[in-house]
Amino acid sequence: MPAGPRWHLIALLTALLLVLLLTSAETKRQEKGKSLKGVRQELTQERRRAAGRYSRAGPLRVVPSPHCSESTESGEVFVDCQDRGLTTIPTSETWTKEIRHLTLARNQIKMLQDRAFVGYESLTSLDLQQNQISLVKEGAFEGLTRLTTLLLQHNHLGTLTEETLIPMPNLRYLRIHNNPWNCVCPMDSLIRTLQVPSNRNLGNHARCAEPIRLKGTKLKQIDPELLCKEPDPTSDPAHYPTDSPNVLQPIPIRKKPDAIGSCHIYFFPQTRMDCSKQGLTEVPAGIPEDVVHIDLSHNSIRHLKVKDFQSARSLRTLNLSNNQMEHIDTGSLTGLLHLRELDLSDNSLQFIQYGVLEDLYFLSQLKLGGNPWVCDYSIHYMVYWLRLHPGVRHSGLLCRSPPEHTGERVETYVNSYNRECPKDRQQSKSDQEQTDPELWNTPMEVQRELEEEELEPSHLRAPQKYQIIRLS
Ligand SMILES: *[C@@H]1O[C@H](CO)[C@@H](O)[C@H](O)[C@H]1NC(C)=O
Repeated sequence: MPAGPRWHLIALLTALLLVLLLTSAETKRQEKGKSLKGVRQELTQERRRAAGRYSRAGPLRVVPSPHCSESTESGEVFVDCQDRGLTTIPTSETWTKEIRHLTLARNQIKMLQDRAFVGYESLTSLDLQQNQISLVKEGAFEGLTRLTTLLLQHNHLGTLTEETLIPMPNLRYLRIHNNPWNCVCPMDSLIRTLQVPSNRNLGNHARCAEPIRLKGTKLKQIDPELLCKEPDPTSDPAHYPTDSPNVLQPIPIRKKPDAIGSCHIYFFPQTRMDCSKQGLTEVPAGIPEDVVHIDLSHNSIRHLKVKDFQSARSLRTLNLSNNQMEHIDTGSLTGLLHLRELDLSDNSLQFIQYGVLEDLYFLSQLKLGGNPWVCDYSIHYMVYWLRLHPGVRHSGLLCRSPPEHTGERVETYVNSYNRECPKDRQQSKSDQEQTDPELWNTPMEVQRELEEEELEPSHLRAPQKYQIIRLS
């Protein structure tokens, strides 16, 4: 067939042509694809840039959102920015509503610029305690005309002038203690202001750190005349006669730690004192009357004494956990009529002395775990008191000793005690006449009589009362 090879040739050429065409088309498509991708990339970059420009312009991005919590307490907006690692004051636009109370406690703010609180004109309280503020510009508080409470304690302030306070005509509470005040001439006007009798709640407890001759003296008690006087050529402290008023007085060794000096106080939403982990060996004195919650946990308190809480009339929670408490005097919780929560866990208590709990009419929670409760007659008071106060939820009341009761619930032990008739109770029958008449007819005794009436003859009850005396 002569047409065969020609046909072959045509087929071959066609195939070659097809291959060429396809290859070129693929190249073009790739090029086209590449350029499209490039455009898309550019567009994305452009959009990102645009977005960047937009977000930088947005007010919410000026200061990173501090994630503060906003709440309303009796109709007043309260913003809590504690422990947010802040180094500056967040802009007021961050919040939608008019803020009354702002706490910036425990951040890392180092200075307050002029007009630092623009937009915060509705504030009545401002808490800046426990920052690192060493400088407050004179105009820092401009506009805060409604402010009544300003807390600057536990900062690094060495000086402050009276001018700083002028924008706040309604200021009634100013706390500036635990700052290293340098009591020299520039402090004269401030010290005079603090000493005006009507300013009795401004600057209490603040003490000079310098100069050395005034170290430890309260700002309220310095003679302002001395501050701006030319130093006497013989003013070497060694030359002062001992009765000179400006001589370095040894700081009196205070018997009891002072609550304001050893604790942190917070006013909103409720007055709360945090005295935890302060190495306290005693309940500090001078707990303000309006404190509602007090945390004394993780200290080394061994003993609660009569009147320890006598000033704390409003107390609702008292946390004494993780101390070394061995003894609570009758009368130490006297006056705590509104106490709701009492945490005595993780101490060294073996029993609660008779009468200790008598004033706690409104107690609803009592934490007792982690104490070496001894299941003998001394523990009975606790159990009777709990029976008489069924509204009190309690936890952790377990016998640690004696060995035969270890791990048993104290209530179980007391019930079993009442059902058995231990030998020693019969043996002490002859001691009946030694019974303290004052222990009769107390709620505890009445309660026990009601419960035990059918269980044992009445002549067996007296010796138990005798045992209370012997063990306490
Ligand atoms: C008391 O303080 C401890 C330790 O800080 C804590 O674990 C406990 O919950 C507190 N108790 C109450 C009643 O708040």
